[in-house]
Amino acid sequence: MSNKTIGGAVIGYGGMGHFHGRQMLRIDGIELIGVFDIDPAQQQDAEEHGIHAFDSREALLSDPRIDVVVIATPNDVHKEIAIDAMEHGKNVVSEKPVTLSPADLEEMIAAAERTGKLFTVHQNRRFDGDYLLARHVIESGVLGDVFRIESRVQGSRGIPSGWREEKEHGGGMLYDWGVHMLDQMLYFMRGVKLETVYSTMTFITNAECDDGFSVLCRFENGVEWIIEIQTNNFISLPRWYVLGTNGSMVVEDWDLNGRIVTVLETGKNDCEPIVAGAGITRTMAPRTDETMHTVPLPAKDYPTDWDSYYLNLIHALRGEGEILVTHDQQRLLVRVIEAIFKSAETGEVVHL
Ligand SMILES: NC(=O)c1ccc[n+]([C@@H]2O[C@H](COP(=O)([O-])OP(=O)(O)OC[C@H]3O[C@@H](n4cnc5c(N)ncnc54)[C@H](O)[C@@H]3O)[C@@H](O)[C@H]2O)c1
Repeated sequence: MSNKTIGGAVIGYGGMGHFHGRQMLRIDGIELIGVFDIDPAQQQDAEEHGIHAFDSREALLSDPRIDVVVIATPNDVHKEIAIDAMEHGKNVVSEKPVTLSPADLEEMIAAAERTGKLFTVHQNRRFDGDYLLARHVIESGVLGDVFRIESRVQGSRGIPSGWREEKEHGGGMLYDWGVHMLDQMLYFMRGVKLETVYSTMTFITNAECDDGFSVLCRFENGVEWIIEIQTNNFISLPRWYVLGTNGSMVVEDWDLNGRIVTVLETGKNDCEPIVAGAGITRTMAPRTDETMHTVPLPAKDYPTDWDSYYLNLIHALRGEGEILVTHDQQRLLVRVIEAIFKSAETGEVVHL
């Protein structure tokens, strides 16, 4: 396939399907051949914008110009469409979450192995600026040995209406934002064993699907990584909060406001006690300025770059490089999601 323009198509032409259509129209090396959606309104919308809407999924999958199919339907039908597409000789990018159980994922991977087709998942938030920045700061060592990472996404409007509120379609926040945040964590920590998870879920605005969850993940090297997705917060906590032996970092928001504070004199202990409620404390007294160094975040160096996902896909399809999102990464992610559901249900720590 070297240097050939990849023929792309989208199945499920809703919100994210439109995004993929735009990417294929915009990015060199891939072209949009057409789309298919079971909703006639989406089909009409495509045609009105000069995009071919195939009459059926079969018609799309039978078109020899199409090399890769992106699946952007609700979560419960990714598996069925992915297997069908691979059996028609198409490479497949599934939207996240790839599917809803480890057994289903194995069926998808078996289809990829049987047909020899590329099968991967759109984990685009590996290219989010806030994540790239947090990774860079942690890896730079400026914070010392990082022992706790907290990653949060919080809103106040509950689950968006539609299939995301329905369990049968793979609704809920763990399958929605949770998958992105877990993928970021597992990709960052690859090579370090995740030993246990402990989680709780909330059902404040929806009885059927979680409208938020918290999970504490413990890795074999001692790092604790907390992920919280909530949709009932009227005051949000920072996007990232990181503690190391030599400093702390906060990334307040998607605009990458925040700061890195490092300690200059760890031994200095001669502070004045402060009043804390009815008592006084030296332990919790703030440090004096001369013992700390505060810098703003290097925000402009870390733009969000979702195009890189597509560039990797194009390179991999041309045989010019490895695909970024692998089967084994997805296997682990789906297992961790299963463990989070189990922990929330049983109230117990789950060992992986
Ligand atoms: N990676 C990301 O950043 C990101 C962001 C949003 C959504 N997503 C994922 O994208 C997928 C779609 O989400 P969305 O927000 O676009 O949903 P959406 O409801 O806006 O669109 C889904 C579309 O799929 C169509 N559809 C349903 N079943 C179909 C079928 N069997 N065949 C063809 N079309 C079918 C629906 O008619 C609808 O138009 C989900 O898996 C979601 O998790 C990913």
